[in-house]
Order: sequence, then C-alpha cells, then structure tokens
Amino acid sequence: MKKKILIVFGTRPEGIKMSPLVQEFKNFPDKFETKICVTAQHREMLDQVLEIFEIKPDFDLDIMKKNQDLYDVTSKVILKMRKILSEFAPDLVIVHGDTTTTFSTSLASYYQRIDVAHVEAGLRTNKIYSPFPEEINRKLTGSIAKYHFAPTEISKENLLKENVKSENIFITGNTVIDALYLALNKINKNSKLEKNILQFFDENLKNFSFDKDKFILVTGHRRENFGEGFINLCEAIKEIALKYKNFYIIYPVHLNPKVQKPVYEILSSLKNVHLIKPLEYLQFIYLMNKSYLLLTDSGGVQEEAPSLGKPVLLMRDSTERPEALKAGTVKLLGTNKNKIVFEVSKLIDDKIHYEKMAKSHNPYGDGNACKKIVEIISMRNFFNEK
Ligand code: UD1
Ligand code: UDP
Repeated sequence: MKKKILIVFGTRPEGIKMSPLVQEFKNFPDKFETKICVTAQHREMLDQVLEIFEIKPDFDLDIMKKNQDLYDVTSKVILKMRKILSEFAPDLVIVHGDTTTTFSTSLASYYQRIDVAHVEAGLRTNKIYSPFPEEINRKLTGSIAKYHFAPTEISKENLLKENVKSENIFITGNTVIDALYLALNKINKNSKLEKNILQFFDENLKNFSFDKDKFILVTGHRRENFGEGFINLCEAIKEIALKYKNFYIIYPVHLNPKVQKPVYEILSSLKNVHLIKPLEYLQFIYLMNKSYLLLTDSGGVQEEAPSLGKPVLLMRDSTERPEALKAGTVKLLGTNKNKIVFEVSKLIDDKIHYEKMAKSHNPYGDGNACKKIVEIISMRNFFNEK
C-alpha cells in the first residue's frame, strides 16, 4: 500500500528548502501519495518560491495577515491543520526547520497521533531567546518528531544530548544546498533566464552595473533585532555608504512592517544604497554570487554563502550554524554599529583578510539531501519501527 505523506511549510525559507524534497517525492508516485500543505504564514514571499519551483499546493491555509503576531500564527495553524490531518490522515507529516508553522504543525499532528519527521533537525544555540522564537520552535518540534533529518554531525550530536534515539537520527546534509545547486544549474543552463535576470536588475538598480560596480548584499528580519538592532544596522549601512562611495549596497527589504519602517526611513535617501522588494530566489542567488560580501541575520544565507565562497558578517549574537563560523567564512558581529562598520571596512580595505574569508566550502551538504531523505523513508521497515 502507498504511504500517505503530507509535507507542510509556510514561509519563504521553508519553501526554498522543502521544494526540492517535494520534487523528489513526486518521482515516486508508486510508493507515496504525497500532498503539499502551505500554511501561507508568508504570502507574497512564499508564492514567489512556489512559482519558481512550480509547486501547486493541495491545501492552502492562507493564514497571513499584516503585522501578525506569534499568537495569531500559532493558533491559526493549529486550528486549520485539524481538518486536513483528520481528512487526509497521513502516515507521516514532514516539517522543516524552526518557524511557527513548523512547531504548530507538529503539535497539531501530535494531537492526532500522527508521526512527524523533522527536516533540518538538531540546530541549537541553547539560548531560548536567540533566535526568538526559533530556538524554542525547533526544540519543541524535536521533542514531538519521531524522525530527525539532521544536516550535520554537530546537529546530530545536539539531538543525542537531548536523548533522541540514535536510530531515528539521519545525517543527510541540508536541503538548502540541493535548492542552491538546482537554482545555479537552472541559471547556467538557460542563457535566456540569465538575460531576464540581468534585465530585471537593469530596470531595478539605477546607475548600477555588474561589470564595473562592487556591492554588499544585505538582508535582515530577525525578531530579536527589531527596534534598536535594526536602527543600529541601518546607521551602520549609512556610514558605510558614505565612507565607500565606490561601493553599492543592495538590500532586498523583508516585507515585515517592523523591518520596512526603519530601513526606508534611514536609508532611502542614499544614492549608493538600493532598497528593493524581496527577490525571487533565482534573482537572489544570482546577486549573492556576484556580491563582494553579505551582511545578514538570515539562517539560509549563512548556509548558502560558504558554498559560493562569499564572506558573511552575521548580525546576530549567536548562531545555531557553527560549521561555517569554525571554517572562518562567517563572522558573528551582533548589531553594534561601530563593530559592523569596522568589520565591513576591514573586508574592503584588507585584501588578505578578504581572501581568507572568501573561501568556498560546503559544510552544509553535497546537494543530495532530498534524495537521501526519500531513500530513508522508502526503506522497507521505516514505518514499522515504533
Ligand atoms: C518568519 C519566521 C522566521 C523566518 C522568517 C523567514 C516565525 C515566528 N518566524 O519570520 O523564523 O526566519 O519568517 O523570512 O515563524 N509579510 C508580508 N508578506 C510576506 C511575508 C511577510 O507582508 O510574504 C509581513 C506581514 O506583515 C507579516 C509580517 O511580515 O505579518 C511577519 O511575518 P511572520 O511570518 O510572522 O514573521 P517573519 O519575520 O517573516
Ligand atoms: N532569499 C530570497 N530572496 C531575498 C532574500 C533571501 O529568495 O530577497 C532567500 C535566500 O537565498 C535564502 C532564504 O531566502 O535561501 C532565506 O530566507 P530568510 O532570510 O527570510 O529566512 P531564514 O533563512 O533566516 O529563516
């Protein structure tokens, strides 16, 4: 009998990291009845991903509202998952990472005693407010999940320390590298696509040219940085933009109003700062690949940039992704303005320092994580062991 699989995600990064897994499951229609449920905790930013990966969800909870808070997202996901879980009655629910969609879906599944598999399992800072609320989301998901697809050896060790059974943890690499390779392949193979991307940037980045201009790529959205953190970041970007007039700063601004407000207020008048809408994944990857360095608080960007050999300055106090930190391509800065300006300046002025950080390596996977996950779930006794 075919096993019923329900893959659930809700935000941009989950969409990017789960889409290659959806594609892999769809290669085995004889083994699995796979359905996709999006909570749409994000709307526009998720739809961009669904379009690029050509995914049509079977269920769309459509929960996003402007300025939603954690209570809104948690309660809506739990309530709306009830019917889908009871009607489809999956053998396995697969969730990803650390969002409120992830945790709430796991809890909703647990209430119906449905097994949960957790992709990108075992990341930890062991600080409950950093990142907030992601550290608790992934810990609680880890407590509910039966199967744990850990990206690295370190994430497996974290789970073992929490007494997760070793036989239920599988090291697969991170599916973000699968997505990255798919995207790069798509761009490299299709000259028309690259032309379209270039035309898009031509229209959206006034006076900027990839041939002659260097740029810093910025993203930021973490809740723990709201308020003072974002103001410091913007003030730092302003100082850098004024200090290095030959550099551009390109910043696709997250749609959260708590991010949009300070960013546009402080930075919109600067000539060499381009504030733009969140980019489609292929456009973003293209930009990342051409950038001089990345200034970010993102989880996914920390994983992608080392594969592309781009230095990352991380505007966070801690990270659950220590692998690239150890290798030296990622540096932890927090949101102190002077520190950000100092470290960016060092990477611009000191070429030897830059070369040391700009080394390409792949601590997070080899691009076959999804294949491994589906192979593991296909194993004859996978669903029998309790
Ligand atoms: C969420 C996740 C975070 C993840 C991030 C990726 C939680 C608690 N947070 O944070 O872990 O790193 O996504 O980006 O799960 N908005 C739109 N359109 C969109 C998306 C967002 O307008 O397509 C605006 C809305 O006003 C929304 C707000 O952004 O209310 C916040 O979205 P939300 O998903 O609650 O938080 P994020 O900061 O995006
Ligand atoms: N990304 C994108 N468009 C953008 C900015 C980021 O497609 O304008 C991608 C990026 O390549 C990465 C993911 O979005 O794969 C990261 O999402 P985000 O930073 O929102 O969330 P996090 O990874 O911190 O959870």
